[in-house]
Amino acid sequence: MRKILLALLISFGAFAQNTISVIPKPQSIIQGKGKFVWNENTQISVSEDNLEAKEVAEQLALRIKIVTNKQQNVVSGKGSNRILFSKNTQIEKEGYVLKVSSSGVNIEASNPIGHFYGLQTLLQLFPAEILSNSFQPKLILSLPECTIKDQPRFEYRGVMMDVGRYFFPISFIKKLIDVIAAHKLNVLHLHLTEDQGWRIEIKKYPKLTEIGSIRKESMLGHYRDQKYDGKPHGGFYTQNEIRDLVTYAQRKFVTIVPEIEMPGHALAAIAAYPELGCTGEQYEVGTKWGVEERVFCPNEKTFEFLENVLTEVIDLFPSQYIHIGGDECPKEAWKKSQFCQDLMKKEGLKDEHELQSYFIRRIDKFVTSKGRKIIGWDEILEGGLSPNATVMSWRGVEGGIAAAKQQHDVIMTPNSHMYLDYYQGIPSAEPLAIGGFLPVEKTYSYEPYAPELTTEESKYIKGVQANLWTEYISKPEHAEYMLFPRALATAEIGWSSKEKDFVDFGKRMTKHFERLNQMAVNYSKAYYNVDFSTEKNKLSQPVVLLKSNDDTGTIRYTLDGTKPNEKSLIYSSTKKIVVTGDRTIAAALFAKSGKMIGGVTSKSYVISTSTGKNYTLGTEPKRYLGGEKYALTNGVRGDINSNEPWVGFSGANFDFVLDFGQKTNFTNVSVAFQGAYTSWIMPPRNIEILISDDNKTFKSIKKLDLATAVKTENFVQQLNIAVGNNNARYLKVVAENYGKLPEGHPGKGTPSWLFVDEVSVR
Ligand code: ACM
Repeated sequence: MRKILLALLISFGAFAQNTISVIPKPQSIIQGKGKFVWNENTQISVSEDNLEAKEVAEQLALRIKIVTNKQQNVVSGKGSNRILFSKNTQIEKEGYVLKVSSSGVNIEASNPIGHFYGLQTLLQLFPAEILSNSFQPKLILSLPECTIKDQPRFEYRGVMMDVGRYFFPISFIKKLIDVIAAHKLNVLHLHLTEDQGWRIEIKKYPKLTEIGSIRKESMLGHYRDQKYDGKPHGGFYTQNEIRDLVTYAQRKFVTIVPEIEMPGHALAAIAAYPELGCTGEQYEVGTKWGVEERVFCPNEKTFEFLENVLTEVIDLFPSQYIHIGGDECPKEAWKKSQFCQDLMKKEGLKDEHELQSYFIRRIDKFVTSKGRKIIGWDEILEGGLSPNATVMSWRGVEGGIAAAKQQHDVIMTPNSHMYLDYYQGIPSAEPLAIGGFLPVEKTYSYEPYAPELTTEESKYIKGVQANLWTEYISKPEHAEYMLFPRALATAEIGWSSKEKDFVDFGKRMTKHFERLNQMAVNYSKAYYNVDFSTEKNKLSQPVVLLKSNDDTGTIRYTLDGTKPNEKSLIYSSTKKIVVTGDRTIAAALFAKSGKMIGGVTSKSYVISTSTGKNYTLGTEPKRYLGGEKYALTNGVRGDINSNEPWVGFSGANFDFVLDFGQKTNFTNVSVAFQGAYTSWIMPPRNIEILISDDNKTFKSIKKLDLATAVKTENFVQQLNIAVGNNNARYLKVVAENYGKLPEGHPGKGTPSWLFVDEVSVR
């Protein structure tokens, strides 16, 4: 019996190991039982009618040479015991059919792009070490028998890298091209110019790089800290480097889309050539992140400059799309400029948005005259869309929907799902990021076809892109950490069929991590982090449920908020954690070896007379609903690491009435408010506590003016208010919203958010 079990385990193990696991998921896989094993007589060949695929075949030969330490030559002709790249004109442009049998491998495609993608799949069928950059003496290069038919869902599958905020070396950009191409992504959008740096040599305007590529210092920590490092930062790509990079990318079928930002995000250029601004004043290259009011002036000098710059850019980059930015251009400078006001009159433009539209139209006309197409961020819709423009929808999907309805091509890159500069795990366990919360499952869940569009309109959605803005990312390792694995999810959205299953993706992804290890990619392991959810038992006590995406490890936790280790309590879904008193639970996933996988996550609970009790609100919350219906008395205390438990009121007061169900004694009321100045979340101005027995007439028992620490960031104002001996059925808590955001705040004059959580009464 034990023997049979052992045999079963072994065969199951062998099967599990060989189950095909490819990212992005191919359209169809039929797996056989046998395998093909590379031996010293195996050849790599292209069929005689397919010599154009030789360069792709040579990429395989190079891989094999690295890991076997034996030279491989690509031959031509058919036969057994070979990996053959053959022509099949029936297959669509990027598609391929890959057949592995015990006697050999055949990758069929109609052209080298298809062969390249077939090769990327083939590399994921080999053991992960095939991707290593060193000799692997013990490696057995075996492949599972299979037939894979594949082609992409979308034609545009991109990643944007912001090299403006921080300069990234060519070696990193080449590695990024390698890694994205391995996942069948086919666009690298380089954001080459910014307020804080101009990163591309332009022969006609040498000061762009002499002056514009260097800033005197960078922000240290978060924007809200308003600190600087005092160290110059700079760097740019020469035209020779760009040409080499473009050639490198072409070999991997990656198109580099260059972005030259206009009319906003242009301070580095204006610092180099002050006549491009509206005042002619000499400025310094930007050092502060955010949206800059000093923008290009729409004068003839600027257009001449931009046309000359674009002429060189078009000469360097064969990309059909030339990205012209168009986002976040404040109109203050144009409002103050007599020249702009006169121009608007002369051109019959009713406002500054139309002036921006005039700007983009002129550039569109120029780029179109050169046989290329402009693409811009969704602000280019404001004031009227230029005739040939493609829209990159980033402020959600609305811009993309509007553009598709106007029969313009669209690339979907909504910040809700595709902004890879957002946190991918609990912020306390992550490197500093701009904000947000975008775990890999959320990116994965994105569907580019919006339900608002008809089938006909959906055809304008050409693809997807993930964006990596780098205000808080200065090093290649950190960029990789933010990009991966979310760029894998992006690849799967762009390539694979619409039907998606995150559990299946997760299983393939964790296997794929071994390949990323071989490629020396510094990916995030936040996928393994433990998620908390809370139920209530019959006694209205919170019952905590813990879960990790990965079910192969053990969840361990502590009940005092300290970091769990390999000896901490083991969680099991059958042994519920009932919270009977105030505490913080911290949890993490551990491998069998006892090593922690992923990071530590935690949640705080508070138990009191109000736990589980009903309440009403004078104004209902907006957008931030606290995760569940009775979020303010559910026992889960809002903490600074997540917006989820918090209940948010935009511009409105917190006006809360709790019903104890019967007259109840209490002496203390506690409630918390969040402060996050740069997220427009302000603490209240004051708080009042009242009681009643009939829910009609209320008596005030306490009123406090709160010293509003308005500029403080990321803090929780936890109030524990002694209210004396009371006996009442209803308790009312009113907290006054801070009101309009103050002078000096980027959102000045608009309503601030009041974030409240957990009213507990004792
Ligand atoms: C953008 O994030 N400003 C396109």
